[in-house]
Amino acid sequence: MKRVFGVFGDPIAHSLSPAMHNAAFSALGMDCIYHAFRVKPEKLEKAILGAAAMGFGGLNLTVPLKEVALKLDCIKPDPLAEKIGAVNTVVFGETGEIKGYNTDGLGAKQALQNSAVEIEGSKIVVAGAGGAARSIAFQLAADGAEIIIVNRTEGRAIELAKDISTAALSGNVTGRGLSGLKELLQDANILINTTTLGMHPNTETTIATAEDLHPDLTVFDIVYNPLETRLLREAKASGAKTVSGVLMLVYQGAEAFKLWTGIEPPVELMKKTVLEALQA
Ligand code: ATR
Repeated sequence: MKRVFGVFGDPIAHSLSPAMHNAAFSALGMDCIYHAFRVKPEKLEKAILGAAAMGFGGLNLTVPLKEVALKLDCIKPDPLAEKIGAVNTVVFGETGEIKGYNTDGLGAKQALQNSAVEIEGSKIVVAGAGGAARSIAFQLAADGAEIIIVNRTEGRAIELAKDISTAALSGNVTGRGLSGLKELLQDANILINTTTLGMHPNTETTIATAEDLHPDLTVFDIVYNPLETRLLREAKASGAKTVSGVLMLVYQGAEAFKLWTGIEPPVELMKKTVLEALQA
């Protein structure tokens, strides 16, 4: 019988995860199907327990459910998800246990590594202090990078930096406001945009322009709608290396796929599928 997988979120209609995972299942000849379900935060626990009762193979959770999930009694989060404070992958164990993981940071790490970008010992400026910044900064700090979180609301950046430091993953994390970003970037290796700047429909907004950037920098924008954000265009104009947010989406999905199935998914096919869906 077909095994069902899914993503829960709200809104969820435009999720690219079904296309990406169904392409992987099909290429591997697995009798599985992945579907998107609109679930409100207050119904999340019932929905997860229902999915478990129906023998679902696994779940992804997206906005606005990731933080809510961590607090549910039915989910046992792994230490990284617990530290990040959010769950994006749910695994149904053989003996009925429901485990929560967070593969977002790992997805960002692999997006950088697969673009041949060194993380350990690098100076990384993370723009934004929301949920995405949190999972990425936690992972990259644990991997030995120096992290500077810059955010419009300085207090949020300082608080996030403190959280990461006290989780004892790394003492090398600081937070600050957006002013002086150009000077800060001068001796940085990587800039990661986790803010919503540049995202459709505000496509002309950007955290930095070409004059703030330089050729020794890698600029990674986790925004992938539009595919080439203004920040990535500015980065190219400055001679900086660019990394697309599509890669983070694909690698976080690939990590979830491995957690559910123990099988290595066809990452290149998943990437191609997502790119085609975005260009359609
Ligand atoms: P997520 O959880 O998806 O990362 P979020 O918590 O809404 O999303 O965070 C969005 C980030 O984009 C925040 O860091 C936000 O800055 P504030 O903390 O100051 O709100 C940032 N952001 C959104 N619009 C922005 C803008 N116009 N200029 C600068 N930063 C902006």
